[in-house]
This record gives sequence, structure tokens and C-alpha cells, in this order.
Amino acid sequence: MTPSATNFYTHNQYQDLLSLKRGSIDTNSSVSGYESGAESHDGAKSAKEMIGAALQKHIENVDPHDCEAGAEDAFFVADLGEVYRQHIRWKRNLPRVTPHYAVKCNPDPAVLSLLAKLGAGFDCASKTEIEQVLAIGVDTSRIIYAQPCKTKSYLRYTAKQGVTQMTFDNTDELYKIKELFPTAELYLRIFTDDSASLCRLSQKFGASMDNTQELLALAKELDLNVAGVAFHVGSGASDPSAFRQAVRDARTVFDQAAVLGHELHTLDCGGGFVSETFDDMAAVLSDALEEHFPPHIRIIAEPGRYYTSSAFTLACNVIARRTVADKQSGGDNKYMLYMNDGVYGNFSSIIFDHQNPIPRVLRSRLRSDAFNYTPGSPLDSGYTSAEEDNNVTVFGGKKQVTYSIWGPTCDGIDCISSDWSSSETLDVGDWLYFEEMGAYTKCSATRFNGFTDKHETIYVCSEPSAAALIEL
Ligand SMILES: Cc1ncc(COP(=O)(O)O)c(C=O)c1O
Repeated sequence: MTPSATNFYTHNQYQDLLSLKRGSIDTNSSVSGYESGAESHDGAKSAKEMIGAALQKHIENVDPHDCEAGAEDAFFVADLGEVYRQHIRWKRNLPRVTPHYAVKCNPDPAVLSLLAKLGAGFDCASKTEIEQVLAIGVDTSRIIYAQPCKTKSYLRYTAKQGVTQMTFDNTDELYKIKELFPTAELYLRIFTDDSASLCRLSQKFGASMDNTQELLALAKELDLNVAGVAFHVGSGASDPSAFRQAVRDARTVFDQAAVLGHELHTLDCGGGFVSETFDDMAAVLSDALEEHFPPHIRIIAEPGRYYTSSAFTLACNVIARRTVADKQSGGDNKYMLYMNDGVYGNFSSIIFDHQNPIPRVLRSRLRSDAFNYTPGSPLDSGYTSAEEDNNVTVFGGKKQVTYSIWGPTCDGIDCISSDWSSSETLDVGDWLYFEEMGAYTKCSATRFNGFTDKHETIYVCSEPSAAALIEL
């Protein structure tokens, strides 16, 4: 889906909307997150307001107690301004490294278009991903087919399209490439220490340093074109030294290749970058690159979650509630809340990506000001910042209510949070929202139990420069 006029709001349109709603924009209100990398802090501040206003506007138009089937479905608000800010931050911290966005992380068409306009390349893992990127006019030279074990028919497809750059890590793959695409530009993916990452990839991919010599020699014998080395330190990496060691190992492979007569020109540093630790990771990576790779070597990377995680917010509706009498705690009730999205849907990140999404209250009908949202105010009825939501005193020291939160399917593993508390007493029809839902979420959603995997995305753009690029 491309952004349409009806669901895409620019910075200025949102400022107008906010002015209408609030009389004026409160520039002093506190806002959490978006600390670094922003074009300006004000940009980040208005981002929160814009997202809040978009969430609010959508739910105002839906009455879960009297709507068409599915009108209360979960939905995303995506801030393309945040993707833009991450790109600017990347360029500031890693000016030598050309990002090739890992499409698998979130193939959202507006994100891909924006990144294409910003000059990024793309890491594709399948024919569909390559097709999607080619369809938006990206040149084949900006695509790397970063899949060391490729489907034969996809390899024939890439040969036909002229997508030449691809990874390999084993001898069988070299014979396959010799048969189907002998002129491809090959990147030897090497094993890394990914023990400090959320999703370990080296269990499955990456040639061990004991095998690299043999692989390079076979490639030479087969007259194949080895153009570089690739690595991935694991998705959601937390130890910057993994990058340092991987760059050192890559240097060793470059040297081995030179002895065998290969002329390597590119190093691909993979993904693994996390927004919170990016500056430290980038500093370590930059130093290692400077130490081991002279400036004529082209450096690329394949960041995924770094770009999209914080750009997407998900809102879900409470579809059912069960009261659980808790005799031990002096008669206080606990509640089981059932939402219309779960681990078989956009919360697939809990299972596949080891995430713990944090619920926040978007709208609670029981609050007297429930329909009078004023973004940015500490007394918002709904869309509140992290500190506000966790700080009970903000709500007058109200007692906390305890919940477990579940998805809509019949499966017991469909649990979003086994223990969450809020000062709000929530009930059917209320809305929760979850920040940081842009990576490995909707791309791995299923239709289990007949629930949809196509949730609406409302786009906002908190950076005017980005809005101009995507021609609204
Ligand atoms: C080959 C490859 N490149 C890049 C990525 C993106 O990783 P991340 O989202 O951690 O940046 C992945 C993730 O699985 C991957 O397998």
C-alpha cells in the first residue's frame, strides 16, 4: 500500500490539527524517547504529538460497541520522520558505510520509498523482496541478495534481472552459482561471535575462519568473482566488540583472497544495530574499519531494526475482559484483558524476536476526560509518555490495577504480558498502544484463527525534509 491522501499527514497538517484540538501547541510539555539522532529536539517532540493525534483521530471514528465487523481492528501509526532521523544519524556516525536496508525487517512500502529517495541500498532475502525493491525504481546495483543459501529459481530470477551482488558461505552454493549465475559478484559471509545478540544467526550461516581459505580457492578454481566479505553479528547485538572482531576476521579473509588472486573491493558489515546503543556500536565499528580497511575499500551494511523499530506504534482494542477474584490480596480484583492482536499477529516479535512490548493506555472509557485528549499534557486521558504512564503519582497516587494481557486466538501461548499494572481500570472497548513496534512485527504476522494479517498503517511525517522527499 502506498501512502494515500486520506491516511498520510504532513508535519504542517498535523500542526493545524493540533492547533484546532488544543487552541495552541504546548511546547513545554514533557516527551519521552527520541533523545538522540533527531534533526532537532523539537522535531522529536512534535513527533510524539503527531503520533498521539493520529492515534486519537482514528479511535474517535470507531465505536467498538457499535461498529462494522473489523472496524476496531488493531492499527499502526508510522512516523516516516523517525526513519529519516535515523538515516541522518547513521550518516553522521558512519559516514563511510552505505546502509542497505534489510527489507525483511519491515517491508513497508512507504519506508522503502523514503529510504530509496535517501540513497540507501537494500538487502533482499527472496525473490519477492527483490521484486518489491525493483518495482520502486531502485537500480540493481543498490541491491544485495544477502542469502547464503539461495533457492535455485530465485537465483535464475536474479540473473535475469541483473542483481549481481550476493552472499555465499559454503561449497555447494558455489557450485550452484557456477551453474546458474557464473558472473555474479560474491561476498563470502563469515561466522561471527553473536552470543550477545537477541537473534543468533551464526548458528545457521557464516563460514568458519578454518574454511575461508578452502572456499576462496574453490571459487578461484571455478573462475567465480569474489568481490568482498560479509558478516552479521546477530540481530539485536549488544556487544560492540563483536563488530571489532568481525572486522579483524574480514581483514584476514581479504588478505587470504589477495594471495589467491581475488581482487576484493567491498566489506559488508551486516545488521545488528540497535537504536539505543547505536552511537557506541558505530564508534567501535568506525575505529575498526579505519584500522583495518583503507579508504578505497567500499563499506556497506544491512541495518534493519535500527531504521524502523521506533517509527511504528501499534494500537489495539480490548475485546474481552475476565475478572479474576484474588482472595489472597484482600479482595482486589485482577483482570485478564483480551486484545484483537496477539503473538500470531503483530506481536509475533515476542516469539521470533524475543521482545517484551510495553502496554500503555490510549483510551479508557471510565476516565471522566476519556474523550478529551490533549497531546503532550501530563494529564492526557490516553497517549502518555513512558514516565507519565509508569508514574502513579501523576494520576493522584491512584491504586494500581493488575492485568494479564492476551491475544485473540484460542492458543494459550498467545500472551502479550503475564503481569502488567496500570492506574486505569480497563474494560471492553478501551484501547492500548505499544511503541517500538516497527521491527519484525507485521512481517511475521499470520492469519491463524482467521484473524487478519493486514492491519492499516496511518502515516505521519514529523520531519518536513522527509515529507518533501516523499512528495505528499
Ligand atoms: C543477512 C541479514 N542482514 C541483515 C539483517 C537485519 O538485521 P538487523 O535487523 O538486526 O539490523 C538480518 C536479520 O536477520 C539478516 O539475516
